[in-house]
Amino acid sequence: MADWQANWEVPLLEIHETLTSTNSRARDLLREGGSSFSTVIAQTQTEGRGRNGNYWHSPKDMGLWMSFLLRHSIQDPPNLVSTLTGLAVVDAIDSVSDTSRLGIKWPNDIEINGKKVGGILCETCGRESVVVGIGLNVIQEQDDFPAFLAEKVTSIGMASGKAVSLAELAGSILLHCKILLDPLPTVLPVGLIEKLERRSTLIGMKVPLSDGQEGSVLGFSPLGAMLVMAEGSLRHINSTSAVRSYTEIPK
Ligand code: BTN
Repeated sequence: MADWQANWEVPLLEIHETLTSTNSRARDLLREGGSSFSTVIAQTQTEGRGRNGNYWHSPKDMGLWMSFLLRHSIQDPPNLVSTLTGLAVVDAIDSVSDTSRLGIKWPNDIEINGKKVGGILCETCGRESVVVGIGLNVIQEQDDFPAFLAEKVTSIGMASGKAVSLAELAGSILLHCKILLDPLPTVLPVGLIEKLERRSTLIGMKVPLSDGQEGSVLGFSPLGAMLVMAEGSLRHINSTSAVRSYTEIPK
């Protein structure tokens, strides 16, 4: 583990057999003064959290259940953190596996061939720190998923047809996150907007809006909002309003 911590260049690495949620443990580290990129991994989570209060299924040694801390000086950057993490995660998956049609269903979902392979849950803790939680299905075969999920999800192993190392994947995610999140930019550079648009599975699609209208996804703004044309006007959809991925944790 000391080797991984050194190779991944993180200030702290905890690997637990069981946790309720790696996001909860990371939040404790944040309160204890932990520094950015302190990282928590669990072999299994008993109360893994997905967005919108959903339960996140985290079977033992079947996937990567990981969280890290991020301290920043930018106020309210929810779109940017989750968007940049999504870009880092797809780059990392590409670096360790050979999967086709790997994309981001903005803002939280990582998909392969239209099936969910993972998700990102950012939880704020005060105004200048955030816990970034990443869950990825890696080892599962079709029969390993519960029946209610089986049609909608896949794993990196199933999609690439070969074994993927959880440690290699974790290291690659952390290295790619450091490239994109350290320091956290105030806006997305043009090159990253273009990359996000290439990776997005929603470009050109019709999406429902919170006021009941429907719009077409055109692209993304420098602040990481999704640009949607509805009834002749361009809307900027923030990840908070789109899916409330960002949960304020009481101190
Ligand atoms: C989603 O709903 O798509 C987001 C899922 C995020 C799950 C990960 S697993 C590691 C971290 N700990 C949690 O409790 N949730 C996140």
